[in-house]
Amino acid sequence: MRERDLIAIKEAGQIGETIRRTRLFEIKEFAPMHYALLLILALLAVPATAQDLDKGKEINGTCAGCHGEYGAGGKKGEYPRIAGQRAAYIEHSLRSFRARTRINIPMFPYTQERELHDEDIRDVAAYLTSIELPTKWPEFKDTDDALARLTATEKVMIIPRVDGNLDNGKDIFQKQCASCHGKTAKGRGKFPMLVGQYTNYLMRQMEAYIRGERAHDEDNSRGILATLKPSDLQDILAYVTTLQDPQE
Ligand code: HEC
Ligand code: HEC
Repeated sequence: MRERDLIAIKEAGQIGETIRRTRLFEIKEFAPMHYALLLILALLAVPATAQDLDKGKEINGTCAGCHGEYGAGGKKGEYPRIAGQRAAYIEHSLRSFRARTRINIPMFPYTQERELHDEDIRDVAAYLTSIELPTKWPEFKDTDDALARLTATEKVMIIPRVDGNLDNGKDIFQKQCASCHGKTAKGRGKFPMLVGQYTNYLMRQMEAYIRGERAHDEDNSRGILATLKPSDLQDILAYVTTLQDPQE
């Protein structure tokens, strides 16, 4: 009785071993096919997700009239910088303008369905987010010609420092804003980048939030800004201008 049990157990173990080996064999045999399948799936997925940067650049031609060829904005912040901004936030902003949940009279006609449908919004956002505006003047070699110098300097964007209590600004920013806008104010996902943006544009937006003309966040973080003194807002912006160059 006992011996029979032992034999049965041994046999079961052997069967198990055989099954395991067969599985290993099958996995080895099929691995190349799995890879091939993954490759095909990856190739199929690319056209569905990648945005058309050339198309985005072309669309940006209509934006350049106000925001500049490289999206650096202008007129001292009447037109905000849009280059290097988070793609998800650019898309969200354009949809908000189109739906008039954020009022932007100059831009409204450009965002109408005929002008800018969803695919265009994704393409132009992908293009704008890819533009890097350096915060340092390039160093030139004697051999660089005038045109090379001009092209290299054209994109440089440095926001001037502004007066304010930097310690207070830092304290409030890191405690109350960094969780969404990031420790270095570069933004995150749909939360916009604030560093490198015109100071007076940012101030105008904060005032609009406080007046309730623009909605700051779904969970109503407009409340955060409304609890701050005007001098706090100034201090935060002064602090943000110090974040442009991480080496400093
Ligand atoms: C006629 C001028 C004009 C044109 C053309 C224009 N914009 Fe704007 N845009 C503005 C102004 C003005 C604002 C700022 C509105 C405000 O103060 O709230 C703005 C704001 C924005 C913002 C929000 C920025 C932020 O930080 O919240 C984005 C994104 C934007 N524009 C993208 C575009 C794109 C993309 C195009 C081209 C399809 C475009 N704009 C064309 C004038 C223009
Ligand atoms: C819970 C997340 C969250 C927190 C915390 C937060 N923000 Fe924001 N902020 C957002 C979102 C989302 C937007 C974009 C809203 C929209 O679509 O208009 C935004 C937009 C802004 C803008 C406008 C940017 C632009 O380009 O137009 C400014 C300025 C701003 N926030 C400042 C602050 C400051 C200062 C604090 C801290 C006192 C703060 N935020 C805290 C989520 C947050």
